Amino acid sequence: MLSNNELLEKAKEASKKAYCPYSKFPVGACILYENGNIYTGCNVENSSFGLSLCAERNAMSNAINSGEQSQLIKIAIYSPNTTKCFPCGACRQWVQEFSFGNNIEIILEDDNKNCCSYFINDIFPYSFKLI
Ligand code: THU
Repeated sequence: MLSNNELLEKAKEASKKAYCPYSKFPVGACILYENGNIYTGCNVENSSFGLSLCAERNAMSNAINSGEQSQLIKIAIYSPNTTKCFPCGACRQWVQEFSFGNNIEIILEDDNKNCCSYFINDIFPYSFKLI
């Protein structure tokens, strides 16, 4: 099982693959499942800007496409352009979708290059749910 530091390192590696010629704002994400499996994602932009895909949602799609059946527990997010690269609102809703009642840990890099973490229920309360 990777540590929070190791997950952040994987997110850093993933950010190097970002396709972001428009914003020049690379983002990488690495998600951890209860069974120890990890999946990464980077942002992928498009000349029609609104079609751009976020790193976090690409990581979660990667897991689903790989047939992952375990429970999502953590997500590390990194951008070389900023510290504490919080997930956007849409990605928070996606994280909540795959939480299934668990309070997912969100791992970021702080100003001192240390890991810090937040929980989805704190940064995205009262999320939309169908049931
Ligand atoms: N981006 C992400 O990858 N994740 C987020 O949570 C917010 C923003 C990307 C989208 C775009 O390619 C770039 O960062 C600048 O907005």
